[in-house]
Parts: sequence; structure tokens; C-alpha cells
Amino acid sequence: MSRPIPENIIEEIRQRTDLVEVVSEYLKLERRGKNMVGLCPFHSEKTPSFTVSPEKQLYHCFGCGASGNAFSFIMQMDNLNFPEAARLLAGRCGVKIPETNQVERKKEDFKENIYRLNRLAARYYAYCLNNTEPGKQALEYLHDRGIKQETIEEFMVGYAPSDWQGFFKFARKKGAGPDLMIKAGLVSPGREKGYYDRFRGRIMFPIFDISGKVSGFGGRLLSENEKSGPKYLNSPETPVFDKSSILYGLNLAREAIRREKKAIVMEGYTDVITAYQAGIKNVVASLGTALTKTQARQLRFQTDMVITAYDSDIAGEAATWRGLAILQSTGCLVQVADLPEGSDPDSYIKENGAGAFIDLINNATPLMEYHLLQMKKRYDLSTDRGRMEYTDELISILLSEINHVEQNYYLKKAAEELGVDEEALRSELKKRQRWSNHYKSNKQGNEPAGGGEQSQKININPAEKILISLMLQSKEIAEQGRTILKLDYLSDSRVKELVESIWKHTENNDTAAADKLLNQFEDPQINNLIGEAVTDPSLQDLPPHTAKRMAEDCINKLYKVWAKKQQRELQKKLKELEKQGADEQIEELLRKHQDLLRIKDDSPYRSGKGGDIDG
Ligand code: UTP
Ligand code: MN
Repeated sequence: MSRPIPENIIEEIRQRTDLVEVVSEYLKLERRGKNMVGLCPFHSEKTPSFTVSPEKQLYHCFGCGASGNAFSFIMQMDNLNFPEAARLLAGRCGVKIPETNQVERKKEDFKENIYRLNRLAARYYAYCLNNTEPGKQALEYLHDRGIKQETIEEFMVGYAPSDWQGFFKFARKKGAGPDLMIKAGLVSPGREKGYYDRFRGRIMFPIFDISGKVSGFGGRLLSENEKSGPKYLNSPETPVFDKSSILYGLNLAREAIRREKKAIVMEGYTDVITAYQAGIKNVVASLGTALTKTQARQLRFQTDMVITAYDSDIAGEAATWRGLAILQSTGCLVQVADLPEGSDPDSYIKENGAGAFIDLINNATPLMEYHLLQMKKRYDLSTDRGRMEYTDELISILLSEINHVEQNYYLKKAAEELGVDEEALRSELKKRQRWSNHYKSNKQGNEPAGGGEQSQKININPAEKILISLMLQSKEIAEQGRTILKLDYLSDSRVKELVESIWKHTENNDTAAADKLLNQFEDPQINNLIGEAVTDPSLQDLPPHTAKRMAEDCINKLYKVWAKKQQRELQKKLKELEKQGADEQIEELLRKHQDLLRIKDDSPYRSGKGGDIDG
């Protein structure tokens, strides 16, 4: 595995970082025995099952299975890759990272260059808006819309003049190469030759990332009846701009969101700008698309209360629901502010003032409640068909989005709405639940949080899990395992890799500290396994002889499973050879597998002599 950051540096970061401190920046932890517990940031829960072990510097959630160390925590929370997370932690604890990996370094440099060019572009557009003749009309337009000069500057709003090469020529003069301009999505190559500006004749809204770097732009046509493309043209995907992971305004809103303990999500640039100017500063926009998981997580890092104030025309759309369900599944309390038909936050604030808008926010409806209201509007409950469809949708939502207490509450409400018996609805729900559980266990199994989507579920049985846990906790047991356990007994190649790695540490006379191992594996499933293995409360602080005995049992069990499988395969082969009349080969095969045929309930490990646990 090539790591851009040297192992000894990772080790130093590891030693200087306290996981409890890191986690505490994101959620509240309380002491419980040796561990600290809190509400899991990776799934929605009401009672804390997220456990941090200060001693082992690991976390594990007994609710969703997420596990890891400080590195993986930061990776998941801030959506970073390993080197990025390591850099962040290094910064926190004052470790300097020497730049070793050239490829990585080049990639970083390249990104930095794009950021720098974007910043240059933002300044150019701002200059054009505020200081040039073509910008005058745009500036007037903004002022007419009630956006103050001070706000224009704060959001760095600009104007891209309508010439084909305004920015291109400017940036050339500043030394930027055309290639970089193309990669940054600011310039396009001409059909035959030359280059032209992507943004022309548009009001420019720089889109900042959370740290205030310019990631991309949204450009609004100055006049909507102009026939030059969509009303808003955004930057294309670039190495620094991914529309689905950015929230417009978050860099400015972050503090206010934390202070107010709630975030308001809107649709558009102008909504955010107008609200912010009116003193409502805890506002962000999702760039015209439904909320994604990445965006939801970013919000969840700041607060657990999110209120949406979408234009009424998109509020009921399927994509919007999905976005809100994602937000809720990230662990946010979601409420929906109901704007009057035809208005958006921008127009509403302008017409009714900030106070009225804040009232709307304070009277927002919990997502589920809002959902029921919308459904009632959508279906004709006086017909059988309408009631059936209503029930169907209701049950889907009850199954996917909410916890038990809420389920009961909404079942009751819906039953009233439908004029049916609550129990009838409940049994319908149970039926569907059974069905979907069945479906789940056949199809996919429950995926733990933390990147479960990218990697295959590990094929592991309880004996393997316990054994790994024990080997991680004791050098002696790892040693014992190394001498008797064969890797063949293990079913999943990744589990083999893990066990090998544990043994390698023991060989070097080193305990296989779990957090060291965590840095070794990219696979989140393996990391979850490691985390779970070392934090499993039933395997903590066992007396050494008990632990040893347990390990033996596990190895025996694994051996038996393996031997049985071998036997089955042997029988199959024998049958085939018999059919072919290949007597010689049969004999050879039998000789090779003599032991296997003899051993039935025997085990490779006999030193325990079947003694008791304390024997
Ligand atoms: P709106 O059409 O509601 O625009 O799109 P707006 O923000 O209210 O702008 P004004 O007030 O008419 O000037 C909402 C958001 O959807 C995205 C933009 O992020 C926009 O702010 N959008 C819209 C696009 O990306 N492309 C489009 O063509 C339109
Ligand atoms: Mn709008």
C-alpha cells in the first residue's frame, strides 16, 4: 500500500492525538465506566450507543457498527481520504508532514493552482461588476433587487462581461496557462481553435468551500429573456468542485449555525444572500439539487436541527423527499417551513420582512407531519384507491424514516385520517416489515455505516470474530494462534490478510495494537471488524486462562468447519474418480487425505485435553 505520508509520521500523529478530544469537537460524550459514550453521528439514534475507548483510542457504535480510530473518524465526518485526514490531525497536534510522494504532491499542487485561479477569477468578476462600464447594468440590477453593496462584497458577487475572451486574456496576462483554465472550468477550447470564456454576460456567485476557498461559480443571466443558455450556469465538475458535496454559504453560515443550533436550507443563491443580509445568517443552499448524503453530513457536523425553506414548487417533489429522508437518516431533526405558493425565501423576506420569515421557521412542521399533510392533499381519501395508495406510501415512510415512538404516533394520526382502526394499520405495517426484513437478509444483509457501500460485506463467523478480538488483546494468544491456526481455516481473504497482519506484529515482538492495524487497511469493512473486535464488551478484561481457553475453542471450531468442507469436497472428487475408474488417482487422493477422513470430531489442538474452562 503506498502511503503518501511516512509511517513514522502517521505514528507520531497517532500518539499525539486524543480521540476523545477529536470526537468531542463533533458530539457530546459522557463517561460510562472506562468508556465515553454519545449519540452516534453516523446514524440516527435517541439513546447513545457510540462508544469511545480512551484507553484504546478507538470508537465503536453498537447501533450501526461504525468503528475506527481518530483517522477514520475524521475521514467519515469530514468526508476526507486518509492523507487528508492525516494532514488535518497533524495540523491539530503540531506534527509537520514532509512532502514525500511526488504524485500526491503534484495533485495537491494542481488543486491549489485551481483554487488560486478561481480566486483570481472571482476578483476579476468583482472588479468588472464594481468598476467597469459593462458592469454598471449588473450592479444596478443587484441594487434593484435590494442587495446592498456591503453584501455584494461579503459574498464576492461579480459580473462576467459578455466578451468572449475577457477573463481568458486577463488570466493569460497574469501568467495562467490555458490548460489550467480549462481544468478549472473557466474557459473552453474553441471548436476550431482558440479559447473562450465559459461565463459571459452573467452575474457571478463564487461558491466557497467550508474553509472559504473558491471552488467554483454559479453565473446568473442578467436578463432572463436572453437566449444564451440556462438561467444559472454553474462550474462543471473540477478537481475542486463537486456540486453534490458543497453547500452554498456554509463558510459564512457555520458560526451562526452552531450558535443558533439550527441550520436553514434553501434552494438558491439569492435566497441565502437575502436572508443573510436580513440578519438570518444560519442559512445555506444546496445548489438547486436535492440534498445528498455528503451535504447532509456536513450539516450534521454543525447541528442536529435542520429546517428547509424551499420554494413551494419543489417542496413536494420526490427528489426533495429523498434529500430530506437522507438528512434525517444522518441524524438530523428535520422540519419543513411552508412558504406560500409562488414565493421563495428571497421574495418572502423582501415582501414580509425578516421577522415574518423567522416566524415561518419557528412554526416549521416536523418532516413526518408535513409528509402526512402533503399526502392528504395528494390522495383522494374518499375513494378506496386513494386510501390504499395513501396507506402504501405511509407504510413505506414509517418503515424507512423513523423510530418506534414516532411510528406509533403517526400510525395513530394516519388511522384517524383514514377513519380506520389503528390496529389494522399496525398489522399492515408488521406484514410489510417482515417482508422487508426477509428481503434484506436474503439480498444484502445490514450494511454497517462508514462506507459500507463501497466494499463487499465480510464473510465471517462468530468464532473468527472472537478469535480476532482475543488475538488483538493479547500477544500470547496471537502467538498461540500463529502456531495452530491455518489461514485456510478462514473463509474471507480479507480476514486472512488481517490475521496475517496481526501475526506479523507478534513476530516482531510487538502487540498488534488495533489502531495501528486500522491505518493499514483501506477497507472500511475490515476497519469495522477491528473496531468491533476490540471494543466488544463481552470480551473485555477476561482472565488470561479464560481467554486462552476461548481462543482454543474458536480454533477448534474453525478447524472443524474447515475439515467438514474438505471432507465434502473429497467425497465429491472420489465419486467423480470412481465414475471414471481412475483407481490410481483414487488411491493417491485417499493417501493424501487419510488424516482428514479419520478426524471427525478430533481437533488439531489437544493440549487443553478437554479440560474445563479453569482447568
Ligand atoms: P431558482 O430558479 O429558484 O433561482 O433556482 P433563484 O435562486 O430564485 O434566483 P433568482 O431569484 O431568480 O435570481 C434555485 C437555484 O437552483 C439552481 C441555482 O443554484 C439556483 O440558485 N439553478 C437554477 C441552477 O443551477 N440552474 C438553473 O438553470 C436554475
Ligand atoms: Mn428561487
